[in-house]
Amino acid sequence: MKDDVTTREARIDGLQGLGCKRKRVEDARFTQGKGNYVDDLTLDGMLAGDFVRSPYAHARVTSIDTEAALQIPGVLAVLTAKDLEPLGLHWMPTLAGDKQMVLADGKVLYQGQEVAFVVAEDRFAAADGVEAVMVDYEELPVLIDPFESLTSDVVLREDLDPTVDGAHGPRKHPNHIFTWEAGDQAATEQVLAEADVVAEEMIYYHRTHPCPLETCGCVASMDKVNGKLTLWGTFQAPHAIRTVISLISGIEEHNIRVISPDIGGGFGNKVGAYPGYVCSVVASIVMGKPVKWIEDRMDNLMTTAFARDYHMQGKIAATKEGKITGLWCHTTADHGGFDACADPTKFPAGFMNICTGSYDIPTAYLAVDGVYTNKAPGGVAYRCSFRVTEAAYFIERMIEVLAIELNMDAAELRRINFIKADQFPYQSALGWEYDSGDYHTAWDKALKAVDYDGLRAEQTQRVADFKAGKTRKLLGIGLTHFTEIVGAGPVKNCDILGLGMFDSCEIRIHPTGSALARLGTISQGQGHATTFAQILATEIGLPADSITIEEGDTDTAPYGLGTYGSRSTPVAGAATAMAGRKIRAKAQMIAAYLLEVHDNDVEFDVDRFMVKGAPERFKTMKEIAFAAYNQAIPGLEPGLEAVSYYDPPNMTYPFGAYICVMELDVDTGEHEIRQFYALDDCGTRINPMIIEGQVHGGLTEALAIAMGQEIAYDDMGNVKTATLMDFFLPTAVETPHYTTDHTVTPSPHHPIGAKGVGESPNVGGVPAFSNAVHDAFRAFGLRQAHMPHDHWRVWKIAKDLGLHG
Ligand code: CDP
Repeated sequence: MKDDVTTREARIDGLQGLGCKRKRVEDARFTQGKGNYVDDLTLDGMLAGDFVRSPYAHARVTSIDTEAALQIPGVLAVLTAKDLEPLGLHWMPTLAGDKQMVLADGKVLYQGQEVAFVVAEDRFAAADGVEAVMVDYEELPVLIDPFESLTSDVVLREDLDPTVDGAHGPRKHPNHIFTWEAGDQAATEQVLAEADVVAEEMIYYHRTHPCPLETCGCVASMDKVNGKLTLWGTFQAPHAIRTVISLISGIEEHNIRVISPDIGGGFGNKVGAYPGYVCSVVASIVMGKPVKWIEDRMDNLMTTAFARDYHMQGKIAATKEGKITGLWCHTTADHGGFDACADPTKFPAGFMNICTGSYDIPTAYLAVDGVYTNKAPGGVAYRCSFRVTEAAYFIERMIEVLAIELNMDAAELRRINFIKADQFPYQSALGWEYDSGDYHTAWDKALKAVDYDGLRAEQTQRVADFKAGKTRKLLGIGLTHFTEIVGAGPVKNCDILGLGMFDSCEIRIHPTGSALARLGTISQGQGHATTFAQILATEIGLPADSITIEEGDTDTAPYGLGTYGSRSTPVAGAATAMAGRKIRAKAQMIAAYLLEVHDNDVEFDVDRFMVKGAPERFKTMKEIAFAAYNQAIPGLEPGLEAVSYYDPPNMTYPFGAYICVMELDVDTGEHEIRQFYALDDCGTRINPMIIEGQVHGGLTEALAIAMGQEIAYDDMGNVKTATLMDFFLPTAVETPHYTTDHTVTPSPHHPIGAKGVGESPNVGGVPAFSNAVHDAFRAFGLRQAHMPHDHWRVWKIAKDLGLHG
C-alpha cells in the first residue's frame, strides 16, 4: 500500500498510449542525417556489383564477350547466365509462381533486363566494366500492347511450353498467363440483359512505378569459415527473403541472416526478389568478400516492380431510379516479361474482386486475363493492398459514368447505393465479408464540410460564364467513396510462396520496467517504432518511451511476412496487442501474489494491478516487472516475456470519403487544386498525427499518379520516362493543401479495433483527382479520358470537345 497522488488522467497521459499524438521517435535520427541505410554500410574488403543491361526490349543474345571488361583495372569478375547455370541460379522463382531469368539466358524480354553482373573493387571500376562488356543482340519483334500480344505469332516466353498449364490454370495463347474469375457470370449477364440502364466503359489505369526515394540494393557477405550468409538489403519482407534465398541457394535457413536496416520508402517496390540479390550472393560466395549492389534511378524506374497497367472493361446495370443491380468487369492485365506480381498465391489479380467498392451490388462478375509483353515485370501493390487501387478506380469511374447515363447527381447515386451500417458484416457478391462500416455518416459529413450544394451551384454558374465567354477556367468536383481491404491473411486464404500471411510480436520486459518488442514487420517510414510502442503502452501499462521497437533482423525478430498493403497494423499490430495481453496475464498472477490475494481479486488499471474494491492497494507494472526477476513465485517461471503469432480471422475494411475541387484552364491544360477534403475511417486511431502524415503522403502520391506520373514505352519498347526529368514526382511546389477528417468505426475482430490506413489515401486519392478532371468537362460531354491527366492531355480533352473555338 502506498500514497498515490498522481491522477488517473495524468497516469494515462504519461503512458503516451493509444490515441495520443506522440512525436515520431525515429525522426531524431532521420532529420539529423543519422539514418542507417543499406548504402551507408561499408565492410572490410567490400566489392561493388553492377549490371550490364539490355538496350533492347526483345532480342536474342547471340554472344557476350567479357575479355575487355576483365582487363579494366579493378574489375575482378563478370558473371553471365552460363556461370549461374551449373548452380541452377540462372533463373529464379517469382512470387507469382512464374520463373524469371536472373541473367539473360539466350534472349531478353524488356529494356534494361539484366544481362551480366560485373564485380569490381569499387563502383567506378564496376561501371567501367559494364561499359566494356560486348554483347551481340539480334532484334526480335516487340509487343507492347497486351491485346496485340494475345493474338500475335511472336512468342515471348519460349521457355514455357504453351500446351502446359500455368501456375494459375490453362493458358489460351503462348503470351497468355492466366485467367482468374470471381462472381457469377451467368447471373450477371442476365441482370445486364434485363436492366433499365447499362453503362459501359473501358477504364485504363496506366503503368506507373512506386519510385521510393531510396532505390533497391543489398550487401551480401558470405562467411565461408562459419558457413554463414548475411544479407543486408532494402527488403519489405526480410523473413520471406531469407526463406526464398535458402530455397534457391540451398544454404540452410539458420545459416542465413537477413537484415533490413532503415529503408527510404518502399510502397511495394521492395517486396519481391530481384536478380541483384541473387547475383550479389553468388558473387560474395565466389569472391569470398562482401559484395554491394545498389541501383541507380534509371535501373529502378526501368526494371524493378512497376504498378497497375490494367485495362478494365466495365458494365454497370441499374434501375431508372439509380439502384445498381449488377457489375461486370473484364480486365486485361499487362504483366511484362515475367509474372513477378507480389500477390497472395490464390489471388493472381490481387484483391481486384473488391471492385464492387462501397456499394450494395447484388450480382457481379470479374474476370482477369494476365498477359506477357515486352515490359519490365513486377505488378506490385504501389501503396495499395494488392490491386485495390485499380478496383477502387474502376468502380469510382463506373459510378460517374452511370451518373452521366442516368443524368443524376453522382453524390446522390452513391448515397442510394451505399451498403448500410446495419448490413455489416456484409457479404459482397465477389466473395468478401466486409467487417464494419458506416458510409452514410462519412459521406454526409464530407459533403457538408465542403458545402457540396454550394459547389454545384458555383459550377453551374461557371459553365454558364464559360459559354458566355466570361472565363476560360472550368470547375471540377471530384467525388470518391472508397472501401479498402487490408491486413492479409488469414493464413487459410493468403500465402506468399506457401508462407501463410500471419504476423508476430515478441516482448521482453526488463527488470527495471522497460521493454523490448520485436516484430515480423519492417517500417519504411511509417513510424512503427512510435505507434507499436503506443499499442503496448496501453496494453501493458509501461510508458511508450520505455519501450523499444525492433524490426528487420531475421536473427532476432520472430518470423513475419513483412510490411506492405497496410498489413502491419491489422496483423502485426494485433500480434503486438495479443503478446501484450499475455504479459498482462502473467503480471496479474505476480501482482496477486505480491498483494496476497487471489488472481481474480486484482484488476488492471492503466499502469497497475489493484485489489478490486480497494484501489489504494496496488502494484505498478514497474514493480511487477522487478518482482518477475527477483522473487521466487510459487508455480510461476521467473521472467516476463511473451510472443504472439497472429493469424487474423478476416481482413479489415477501412474506408473514406474524398472530395477534390479543381480549377482547369482549358487553354493550357493546367490545373489548380482549390480544395482537397479527405475523411478517413481506419477504426481505432493509434496515433492521429502519424495517420495525418500517412494521408498527406499517400494523397501526394495519388496526385502524382492521376495528374502526371507514368511509365511510358514507345513502339520499340524503349522506356520514355526513365529519369526524374520525365517521371513526375511532386515536390512541395505541386502539392496542394489537404484538409483531413475522420470517423471511427472499429474493426469488430481486431484486438484494438484498428484497421490499416497507409494505403487508403492512394486508393481513394487517385479517383478523386481523376473524377475532378472528368467532372469539369461533364457539362461538355466528356465520359472517359485516360490518366495521367497532365497538362497536354487535359488540353487535348478540351480541344477534342471543341472548347478551343
Ligand atoms: O503496413 P503499413 O505500416 O504500411 O500501414 P498501416 O498498418 O496502415 O500503418 C501505417 C502507420 O499508421 C503505422 O505507424 C500505424 O501504426 C499507423 N496507424 C495508426 O496510427 N492507426 C491506425 N488505425 C492505423 C495505422
